[in-house]
Amino acid sequence: MQEVAALKAATAQEAEDLRIKYLSKKGIVNELMTEFRNVPAEQKKEVGMKINELKQATLERINALKEAVASQEQAGDDLDLTRTPYPVRLGTRHPLTIVKNEIVDIFSRLGFVLAEGPEVEDDWHVYSSMNFADDHPARDMQDTFFVESHPDIILRSHTSSVQARVMEKQQPPIRVICPGRVYRNEAISARAHCFFHQVEGLYIDKNVSFTDLKQVLLLFAQEMFGPDTKIRLRPSYFPFTEPSAEMDISCHLCGGKGCSFCKHTGWVEILGCGMVDPAVLEANGIDSTQYTGYAFGMGIERITNLKYQVKDLRMFSENDKRFLDEFTSAN
Ligand code: PHE
Repeated sequence: MQEVAALKAATAQEAEDLRIKYLSKKGIVNELMTEFRNVPAEQKKEVGMKINELKQATLERINALKEAVASQEQAGDDLDLTRTPYPVRLGTRHPLTIVKNEIVDIFSRLGFVLAEGPEVEDDWHVYSSMNFADDHPARDMQDTFFVESHPDIILRSHTSSVQARVMEKQQPPIRVICPGRVYRNEAISARAHCFFHQVEGLYIDKNVSFTDLKQVLLLFAQEMFGPDTKIRLRPSYFPFTEPSAEMDISCHLCGGKGCSFCKHTGWVEILGCGMVDPAVLEANGIDSTQYTGYAFGMGIERITNLKYQVKDLRMFSENDKRFLDEFTSAN
C-alpha cells in the first residue's frame, strides 16, 4: 500500500503507462488475481480482500495522478514566462496606411484585385507604354528622378507603371487596384514632397464605358466621405486617357456651402481619371478594337488630408510620435 502512494507521474503519458502496468488485463493486479487460484482455501477470504483493496487504491492513485498532471499542463499553457511585467503599449498604423487600406477595401468590394510593382522602374513602364511621346511636354509634367548611371532607369513618378506591368502579363478582363509610393523631383514644403503615395485603378473588358467609371467613382466617394457626397467631373488631360477628367467631391467640411477649406467653391478635387487611350491598350498588347477600359488615380496624402485635415505634408514622413499617436484604427 505504501508503494501505491509512492507512484508518481510527471506527464499524462507517464500516468497512462502506470495504468497499463498495474491495471490493464495483463497488469500486475490482474496477475495477482490469476494467482489467487493457488491460495489455500482458508486464506482466500483475507487475500481476496487485500487484492481488492490494492486494486481500488491503485485505481484511485492513478486517477489522482492523471488529474494533477492535466491541471498542471493547463496551468502551464496560460503562463507566459517571457512576458514583460510592464503593460504592453500597442503601436498605431500610419495614417497613410489606414487610408490606403480603406481605399483598397472599398475597391476590393467592387471586384478589383490588388496589384503591385517596383518603385525603381524603367522608362517604358512609366512613360513610353503610357503613351508619353519622347518629346511630349507631359514628360515635363512630372519631374523625374533618374538613376545616375542608367538614364533608362528611374524612380516611378506615378503608379500607372503597375498598370503597364499587369497589361503585359494578362489579357482582359482586368480589374486591378494599385497602391504604392511614387517619386517626383520637387522641393519639399508643406504642400509638396519628393515622394508621396498613389492608388490607381484600371478596368478593361468588353463594353466598358465612361458611365461605368462615373458610377464606380460615385460609389467610392460616398463610401469614403459619406452617403451625401456628390461628385463632379471636369474635362482634363492625361497622355494615357482619352477623354480625361478630374473629379471633385462636394466639400465634406461645409457640405458644399463654401468654407475656407474648399476656398468657398463648395468642391474639392480628389482624383484624375478617364477612358484608357486605345494607343495605351495597343502598346501593352491588348486589342483596342475589342476592348475598352477606364483608369483613375488619386494621391493617398490628398485623401488623408481631406479626412483628417493634416495641414503640412511633411508630417507624414517625419514620424513624430505625437502626430502618429493621434491615429488609432481597427484597420
Ligand atoms: N497617373 C496620373 C497621375 O499621376 C493619375 C491618373 C491615373 C489619371 C489614371 C488618370 C488615370 O497624376
